[in-house]
Amino acid sequence: MDKTKFLDLGNQPIANCFLSDDEFNDEFFYNLSVGFDEESCLVSHMDFVEPIRMFNENYAYRGSMSKTMRLHFKSLSERLKTILPQNPKVLEIGSNDGVFLKNWSVGSTFAVEPCGNFAEETNNLGYKTYPNFWDENLSNKILEENGKMDLVFAANCMCHIPNIDIAFSAVNDVLSDDGFFVFEDPSLEQMIDKCSYDQIYDEHPHVFSVIALQKILERNGLSVVNVDNLSVHGGSNRIWAKKTKGGVSNKSVQDNVDHEKTLGLDEIATFIKFSERVRQSKEDLKSLLTRCVDSGKKVISYGATSKSTTVFNYCEIGTDLIQYITDTTPEKQHKYSPGMHIPIIPPRVGIDDTVDFVFLGAWNFASEIKNKEKDFRGKFITHVPNVRLI
Ligand code: TYD
Repeated sequence: MDKTKFLDLGNQPIANCFLSDDEFNDEFFYNLSVGFDEESCLVSHMDFVEPIRMFNENYAYRGSMSKTMRLHFKSLSERLKTILPQNPKVLEIGSNDGVFLKNWSVGSTFAVEPCGNFAEETNNLGYKTYPNFWDENLSNKILEENGKMDLVFAANCMCHIPNIDIAFSAVNDVLSDDGFFVFEDPSLEQMIDKCSYDQIYDEHPHVFSVIALQKILERNGLSVVNVDNLSVHGGSNRIWAKKTKGGVSNKSVQDNVDHEKTLGLDEIATFIKFSERVRQSKEDLKSLLTRCVDSGKKVISYGATSKSTTVFNYCEIGTDLIQYITDTTPEKQHKYSPGMHIPIIPPRVGIDDTVDFVFLGAWNFASEIKNKEKDFRGKFITHVPNVRLI
């Protein structure tokens, strides 16, 4: 792939690697730059971080921490069950803590999860979980042991895989002739629209447009037959694909492609303009936080997200501007944020009357958070789609 660089987000740490204070000196950093491939229209990092650095037995992100996501996967599973044959064979790639799996029968549902802590957890729930990275060897092994799958599902996982051609072709190998490959990932159209550059971090080597996915799936024997535009994770697309032989696309596919072309997602000029907006967003956020702190206000952040790792490291925001971060995930609490080393504590001790401003690190869960924190009398700060108080 011949990529043209359009954005440099500077030195970044591993976005989900929360640290204890004795680990600060050994922290790994890399340059996070992003480019555009004219041929496939794929937006990807210029250099990929080795997956094992991110996805291992210390992985901290738990999909089931949010009620929104639990309900999201429950309702999708109900919908899928009306479409698939009785007792379908299901494979999930990147099953995390089983937030999707738990809606399916144990005996006929299989999983792939390279993070050992979560593979063990879902194996203990009875779902046969392969603790490996997804590739053609693993796909062949699963095929030999379990036969073809009626559904291959992946949520926030395909965009994590550096060699996307191998990943899609391995799905094609294990999919039954009538089977569905359904996957959802953050949408490039939404990232550009919202200037949510924090969708870019080590775990997301690609940010997909439907234009790019159509081309890349096609060259691996799969066709996009339907696209659902979703609000989760700050705006995602759920892609429904089938083997090219049996796949007939509905109107949603062409509508998405046409809309993306209108926005110029097939042209480098669009991304160069985006990078200028990102630089402006950095200036605006730093200046707002500095004004708050200079006027004696207490500012904290809500949600120790990978997204906020990108924001804090790119904008160089540390404990001088944000006193601490609150997060419900036990694995993140009482540790420090990657790179900028801001302490993380549970919300029940972090949100009180002394707090004036809360930066929404988990802006994608703004409604859920505002609902939970009805008693909070201060103001929320967001940088999406532009820096402002809400
Ligand atoms: P998410 O936005 O999915 O993060 P990422 O950028 O890493 O993909 O994660 C949300 C984080 O916010 C997660 O660590 C849990 C936390 N959280 C709370 O602390 N309280 C909440 O009410 C919600 C919804 C999330």
